[in-house]
Amino acid sequence: MEKIIKPIFKIAGDVSVPGDKSISHRALMFGSICNGEVSIANLSIAEDCQSTLNCLRALGVQIKNRSHDTLMIKGKGLFGFEEPTHLLDAGNSGTTIRLLSGLLAGQSFYSVITGDTSLRSRPMKRIIDPLRLMGASIFGRCGDTKPPLTIIGKTLKPIEYTLPVPSAQVKSAILMAGLYTDGKTTVIENAGSRDHTERLMAYLGAKIENGSGAITIARGELAAKDIHIPGDISSAIYFIVAAILSRNSRLHVIDVGLNPTRMGAIDILQEMGADITTTEKGLRCGELYGDIRACSSELHGINIAPRMIPSLIDEVPILSLCATQASGTTSIEGAGELRFKESDRLKSAANGLNRLGADLTETKDGLIVKGPTPLSGSRVNSNLDHRLAMTFAIAGLIARNETIIEDPECIAISFPNFFEKLQSLIGDTDGAISNA
Ligand code: S3P
Repeated sequence: MEKIIKPIFKIAGDVSVPGDKSISHRALMFGSICNGEVSIANLSIAEDCQSTLNCLRALGVQIKNRSHDTLMIKGKGLFGFEEPTHLLDAGNSGTTIRLLSGLLAGQSFYSVITGDTSLRSRPMKRIIDPLRLMGASIFGRCGDTKPPLTIIGKTLKPIEYTLPVPSAQVKSAILMAGLYTDGKTTVIENAGSRDHTERLMAYLGAKIENGSGAITIARGELAAKDIHIPGDISSAIYFIVAAILSRNSRLHVIDVGLNPTRMGAIDILQEMGADITTTEKGLRCGELYGDIRACSSELHGINIAPRMIPSLIDEVPILSLCATQASGTTSIEGAGELRFKESDRLKSAANGLNRLGADLTETKDGLIVKGPTPLSGSRVNSNLDHRLAMTFAIAGLIARNETIIEDPECIAISFPNFFEKLQSLIGDTDGAISNA
């Protein structure tokens, strides 16, 4: 399939986005190991979360859908999973395979977890190393670096571990395995990655302490409490950027997560001169949420320093699109981790946006973007990477001519109704989005 995107006049209106993908994975996993029934509301409808759900069902967890985004889980307690009779399939989802490995390491059975072609090429040594230090038997392909992962559950011991790369997925896998040890497990991180695991564990009554870069977890059961998930800021950002980059635009995003460890892109856009305001509405299940307003803006280039990267890790492609429309040079540094995502996102962003007429240069661990460059529109491939496909779709809205996006289906990995929501904000621009 291909999508044709035509230039638009403006973006306007109120919008809500599906539940946060990162929090949804955690809600499903924690709901499955708590003691009792948990209702989860505003769950992400992303294919990635469906992969987590399928793995949990294969581990014997009873999950009943109440509606398309609300479900009920019967938690089985820490040791209630059943040995799966088949391979666990994490699909395209790094969060599923890495976090679930932390839970599987503490079970008393044998399991194998794998995924699609992209996931099977992604680095897993980062979780194998600490889980082995905790006593787990865990093996991978290519010299214990890649999935499928074979895990033979063991009695685990606590560790103190300094993360070699800032990664919420690795941190979370260790903290989840920490629930199964007799003692206190500490993870030390030098750059603050997203802290949804810590917040949800605390909400569910885990013995967790989080202070000045060190998170400590002790053995313990999780309480069964209902979970409500805020909208996903990493999905909302595409509409926010569309409003900023197109003329006469005004957007209001409702009930979206405002967790400070996820707000890097909003902070950077404000620093670039974007007219964005956030309104906090309160805390729900430990997570800050509220509304965001964004209007058409003139942007200027800036330096995005390495310390900012963890808080905007998934937003680098869409920020690099913003940089193409900003006056001056934008440099993105210390973003080498992007080479190990669903695609090499530095390469995919540079190649794709340059095809559309931009001026991006790859560095070893970042991008240099010169702006402003008018985008001409062209045929561009998503590289089967959802964040790139959505970035190119927004680029298409502000390009002079038609843009054709090849392989856009991958958008369902994080945001299945992206095009419908986008169309509702574009209003009466005839045929701005169509199928080829
Ligand atoms: C995620 C953490 C990030 C992010 C991914 C989701 C999570 O990965 O890129 O999309 O849910 O923990 P790393 O923190 O491992 O870089």
